[in-house]
Amino acid sequence: MTATSSETEQVRFWRGEFGDGYTDRNANTREQIEARVALWARITGRLDGAPPRSILEVGANIGNNLRALRQLTSAEFFAVEPNEKARQILIDDGVVGEKNLRSGFAAAIDLPDAAVDLAFTSGVLIHIHPDDLPASCAEIHRVTRRYIVCIEYFADKPEELTYRGHDERLFKRDFGAMWLDEHPDLQVVDYGFVWKRVTGLDNMTWWLFEKR
Ligand SMILES: C[S@@+](CC[C@H](N)C(=O)[O-])C[C@H]1O[C@@H](n2cnc3c(N)ncnc32)[C@H](O)[C@@H]1O
Repeated sequence: MTATSSETEQVRFWRGEFGDGYTDRNANTREQIEARVALWARITGRLDGAPPRSILEVGANIGNNLRALRQLTSAEFFAVEPNEKARQILIDDGVVGEKNLRSGFAAAIDLPDAAVDLAFTSGVLIHIHPDDLPASCAEIHRVTRRYIVCIEYFADKPEELTYRGHDERLFKRDFGAMWLDEHPDLQVVDYGFVWKRVTGLDNMTWWLFEKR
C-alpha cells in the first residue's frame, strides 16, 4: 500500500451502525444476482479475448457483484470492504477467501501495484466525499494491471443528495469523465446504462476502461 490517506468520517460511517444496517438490508435474492449476471455479461463480453485472471471489488459489501461474476468467470477474487459484518458474510458464504479480503477503503488498498487484472466499484464512488475521490481513484488505478470498471449513478454536473437522512453521504457526477480526467492513460472500451425499469437494479451508468 502506498497511500497515506487516513480514515475519514465517511469510512467510519460505513464501518459503523449505518454500514451494519445497510448490510442487514442488502439482499442476495436470485432475481438480484440474475440481474447482475446480465449486467456483467455485457461488460465482460467486451474484454476481447483477454479474460481477467484476477478481479478486485472495492466496496463489495455482501458481494452481489462477485456472486454474479462467479457464474461468468473462474478468476481469483479480491475484495476491499470497510464494514466488518459484510466482510464476515463474504467469508462465511465463500465469496472471497480470507487471504484476499482487505478491511481497508478505496484510498488505502493493501495490495501491491498491478495486483489484479481488473478492479471495479459499484455504488461506492457515489458515497465517497469529492475531496477524497482523487486519492481513491489513484489507488484503484495503482492496483489494477489492465482494466477498471466503474458502475455508479450519473449526473451531468456534480451534485449532492441527502442519503437516508444524512448529508455528505451521496454524490453524483459524470464519473466516467472524472476517471479520464484523473488518469489520461485510460481508454474507454465501452459504457452503458442499467435501466431500473427493465433490470430491477438501480439506474446506473457503467464504464469499462483499459490502461493504454
Ligand atoms: C452501496 S454499497 C455497494 C455494495 C456493492 N458494491 C454493490 O454494488 O452491491 C457501498 C459499499 O461500499 C463500502 N464503502 C463505503 N465507503 C467506502 C470506501 N471509502 N472505500 C471502500 N468501500 C467503501 C460500504 O461499506 C458498502 O459495503
